[in-house]
Amino acid sequence: MLFKQQALLRQKLFVLGSLAIGSVLYLVARVGTLDRLQPICPVDSRLPTPEPEQIPLRTLQFKRGLLHEIRKGNATKEQIRLHNLVQQLPQAIIIGVRKGGTRALLEMLNLHPAVVKASQEIHFFDNDQNYARGIDWYRGKMPFSFPQQITIEKSPAYFITEEVPERIFKMNSSIKLLIIVREPTTRAVSDYTQVLEGKERKNKTYHKFEKLVIDTNTCEVNTKYKAVRTSIYTKHLERWLKYFPVEQFHIVDGDRLITDPLPELQLVERFLNLPSRISQYNLYFNATRGFYCLRFNIVFNKCLAGSKGRTHPEVDPSVVTKLQKFFHPFNQKFYQITGRTFNWP
Ligand code: A3P
Repeated sequence: MLFKQQALLRQKLFVLGSLAIGSVLYLVARVGTLDRLQPICPVDSRLPTPEPEQIPLRTLQFKRGLLHEIRKGNATKEQIRLHNLVQQLPQAIIIGVRKGGTRALLEMLNLHPAVVKASQEIHFFDNDQNYARGIDWYRGKMPFSFPQQITIEKSPAYFITEEVPERIFKMNSSIKLLIIVREPTTRAVSDYTQVLEGKERKNKTYHKFEKLVIDTNTCEVNTKYKAVRTSIYTKHLERWLKYFPVEQFHIVDGDRLITDPLPELQLVERFLNLPSRISQYNLYFNATRGFYCLRFNIVFNKCLAGSKGRTHPEVDPSVVTKLQKFFHPFNQKFYQITGRTFNWP
């Protein structure tokens, strides 16, 4: 009897043990199956598309050394292929305005690890000869970059050249457009100063600003003078608005970029959907230069060339007032269209 009971117990224990081992084996097999399923639906593909904040900025900052070497012509084709470097069409263009601070804006944005600048003005869209060379020629003028970076170029002539908006639209109708403006009379004087310096370099004489800017027959502002026409921002912008909605433009205050650049740059970062990475560390005031200069890191900093920040000639105050009155209604329209108001007279 006792023997029978013991045999029954052993049988029960055997069944229970088998069930337990079976369950463990099933679980191991199931987990294994799950593991094998992963390649069919990789975890990566189920993650949301990376937001701009997720751009691996530290890595990009580190890799910029390589981009610098490439610019100097020191990189091999193998390195370019290995690092997956590309020449991308610009995702944003600084279209103007001449003497608004276009160089300073481009160089300062280039402080951002996710931004790569085309160093030279390309003049692709405003120069018929260049435009005829085609889009691949334009792409070939772009710097090498990592695919996560954005490329920016600046050619201030774009803003005032009739054919440009349509040409840019044909390339990329959703491109971001940056316009940096200064108080229009100051900008006109700056424009004149640049031309004057060019003449003086060639030992040529040139008219005084007052003579160019005022029509001697009518004593009114000479609207045929290019420096005056360029400062009528609203006229040019209205041509652009036939192709692009106003949301695709960002207006930068060029006067504030001189005195306090960081807040202006932060607004541009936001417009470009970039995480805020340019900091006060990157910008330091150089008293000798009288301008902010750029600090990339502990060893590399630079100021803009001496051709940026020239001393302007004295202008007859009555002419200044006349110009300011002339620009006033155009400025009002510009504020209205862009939604950005300035304290211009
Ligand atoms: P001025 O020479 O009249 O002072 P652009 O690059 O479009 O030609 O604009 C030139 C203007 O950029 C200069 O005009 C200068 O005032 C302005 N600017 C803005 N920030 C500057 C900076 N950090 N260093 C030098 N010039 C700067």
